[in-house]
Amino acid sequence: DTFDTSNTDYYRPVYHHTPLYGWMNDPNGMVYKDGEYHLYFQYNPYGSKWGNMHWGHSVSTDLIHWNHLKPAIARDTLGHIFSGSTVVDKNNTAGYGDNALIALYTSASDEHGQIQCMAYSTDDGRTYTKYEKNPVLLPFDGLKDFRDPKVFWYEPDKKWVMIVSADKEMRFYASQNLKDWEYMSAFGKGYGAQPNQFECPDFIQLPVDGDKNKMKWVMLVNINPGCMFGGSATEYFVGDFDGKEFTCDTKPETVKWLDYGKDHYAAVCISNTGERIISIPWMSNWQYANVTPIRQYRGANGLPRELSLYTKDGQIYVAADVVKEVEALRKDTRSFDPITVKDEYKIDEIVPQTDGAYELEMDITPNTSGVAGFDLMNAKGEVAKIYLDMKSGKLVMDRTASGLVAFGEKSEPHAKETDDHRKTMSVNYQNDFALGTWAPLSLCEGKTYHLNVFVDKCSVEIFVDGGRIAMTNLVFPTEPYNTLRFYIEGGEAQVSNMKVYKLGL
Ligand code: FRU
Repeated sequence: DTFDTSNTDYYRPVYHHTPLYGWMNDPNGMVYKDGEYHLYFQYNPYGSKWGNMHWGHSVSTDLIHWNHLKPAIARDTLGHIFSGSTVVDKNNTAGYGDNALIALYTSASDEHGQIQCMAYSTDDGRTYTKYEKNPVLLPFDGLKDFRDPKVFWYEPDKKWVMIVSADKEMRFYASQNLKDWEYMSAFGKGYGAQPNQFECPDFIQLPVDGDKNKMKWVMLVNINPGCMFGGSATEYFVGDFDGKEFTCDTKPETVKWLDYGKDHYAAVCISNTGERIISIPWMSNWQYANVTPIRQYRGANGLPRELSLYTKDGQIYVAADVVKEVEALRKDTRSFDPITVKDEYKIDEIVPQTDGAYELEMDITPNTSGVAGFDLMNAKGEVAKIYLDMKSGKLVMDRTASGLVAFGEKSEPHAKETDDHRKTMSVNYQNDFALGTWAPLSLCEGKTYHLNVFVDKCSVEIFVDGGRIAMTNLVFPTEPYNTLRFYIEGGEAQVSNMKVYKLGL
């Protein structure tokens, strides 16, 4: 049940999941069952811009190699098939058999609005039958934005719980059979970075600092617009859940980001993975997702990330570290002796005959009160700048001169959104794409930072200290970056344990 098309896009990633043809946005309905990870996604099979939403479908046994299958749920008379989730119905609560896969998703149309629907699969997620009495849930107050149901089993009460985004809040519902849903509570008004609207929520439980006696609930929410750097981003809240209501540990104004780049959105977790919690993002931003310089397909997923909780300065944060399975991508390894960076230090040809798909790993100790960093550059002078700004305590990635930075229809600056950005960055801001992003180094511990940087044709994903900082940004260099130029402003920096891995499937 696979189909194949040959790639015609220069920027198609080598090792990130992309649809073979057509448009992709959010990952949705991700679930693990019998050795297979199912990645469903918002999919337009008819063209490479948003529209005609289906659930596309790919499967993997290792989170890295994906097989493209036929779309699993097609658009129907109730409208687009928007985002949602899938659960394994272990005890046959819905009546379609033990271990049936049950998908809850939003049907969206002008005529019926946004309503929650259900479909089930008894052939390992290949095909779904829609429930004949859809919809299963309507907004009690006629809300226009009511979507992206995430369902999970709440063991203490032996019930299903749904969290669904409802404009400026998230609503919790409970069910015994995945069909009849009862409203319980709402959370979100006034909390965190205030979005235009919340989308794609998730709700997961994790131990704090690895201590299973200290479990916390984490609400992930995707917000658009509302990203500190404009457009789409993923934030989260840490707190407690009593089976009915979520209480947040922090004050409403506290904002925590799952990723500090501009191209990390609609991230949700895979259901049924036991104690391991794995999220996958869509690697784009609604500001320019429809106009990126790509033709045959549009949309890629970021690398899967394993989530954990750590404490820093009395606060609990989520670390989002790339899953260890990515190590299987490492083809050739080049190890470097320790480097002391004074002024600059340049390495050409970091990957011989590169196709622009590699990983850079290093420990960097910036003994400076200025800037210590490196440029990923090509012979055309296109550069992705990554640096530690010790004056302001920030990790920065600047893509102002990274290659193509204005494409398709003109990407208008959103004045209000980018005010924050203008205040915090001093880059030569041109449009929504040509800019930098930053993260606070105070999330890390110690004076040495461990970096894993994944480059794949048109993306750079940075993980610092096991995901305490994650930063995902698209870049469109017109030839691969193959020179690494370290530099320092004042003082010096030590770079040790540096390795460059050529990556491939
Ligand atoms: C998020 C989103 C969801 C919606 C889907 C539609 O990117 O807007 O809220 O379900 O995309 O494709």
